Amino acid sequence: MAAEPELQSAAAALAAEFGLPTTDTEADFILELTREGLQLRWRSKPEYQPLILDYTRGAQAWRQQLGGGRQEAVVRALGLGKGFRPKVLDATAGLGRDSLMLGHAGCEVWMLERNPAIHALLHQAVLHLQQFHGDGHWSSQRVHVLPAGSLLDKESLHEEFSKLQPHAVYLDPMFPEREKSAAVKKDMQVLQHLVGADLDADGLLPAALALASCRVVVKRPAKAPFLAGQTPSSQIASKKHRFDVYIKQPYPKVNV
Ligand SMILES: C[S@@+](CC[C@H](N)C(=O)[O-])C[C@H]1O[C@@H](n2cnc3c(N)ncnc32)[C@H](O)[C@@H]1O
Repeated sequence: MAAEPELQSAAAALAAEFGLPTTDTEADFILELTREGLQLRWRSKPEYQPLILDYTRGAQAWRQQLGGGRQEAVVRALGLGKGFRPKVLDATAGLGRDSLMLGHAGCEVWMLERNPAIHALLHQAVLHLQQFHGDGHWSSQRVHVLPAGSLLDKESLHEEFSKLQPHAVYLDPMFPEREKSAAVKKDMQVLQHLVGADLDADGLLPAALALASCRVVVKRPAKAPFLAGQTPSSQIASKKHRFDVYIKQPYPKVNV
């Protein structure tokens, strides 16, 4: 939907590009095109600010500006040892924060997201980041957004998946208990209500292990059971989360 009449044709073009409906006037969540870009509005909860993804400013920019990305638990779990930069498929990209942390730290990242509205927000936010900083920026060189889809539906993106051959697959499916936590940030709450609990998440682990050549990393709330009940090779803990690391084989050796 367009926030103002002048933006109607641009909104229609974006809806066509992302295959989003423009006729569901009853929808509780709408993607709205404003002069600043896309925003996701939760109609029945006007007390929630619309969700805007903008990696160039505000809270979403600070992590990349700090430049200390290698210390982040997600980066340590993926592993960036001795000059090796793994090719990572983030198969549950969501709001793209983990992916950007990985891209900033040096990984080549492909983001995959199945919810069409979140995918559209993510796609436009990454495009804006890349256009804002230009071709030489790490985001232009190392961050890619795949078409909307899922590792659980290999048919739809079969060609992309077979070309990718990632060293690592990263998984951070929505965990049902996250909904109960008061500490969950507002934009994560919007995401939770839009996509719901990822009840099919267990199926992602075998699919990820089949695709990754070297390792799969799964982010879980600290006390959650292992994904698919499968014990990892090792774990890295952060404040509220745990990164379960499933090693298939070491990364290739690089002479530095
Ligand atoms: C907890 S969020 C991920 C947050 C993300 N790590 C970040 O840093 O913003 C989980 C996301 O994974 C997506 N998702 C869950 N299962 C998926 C699947 N099988 N294929 C693609 N996306 C999936 C959900 O739609 C949701 O947007």
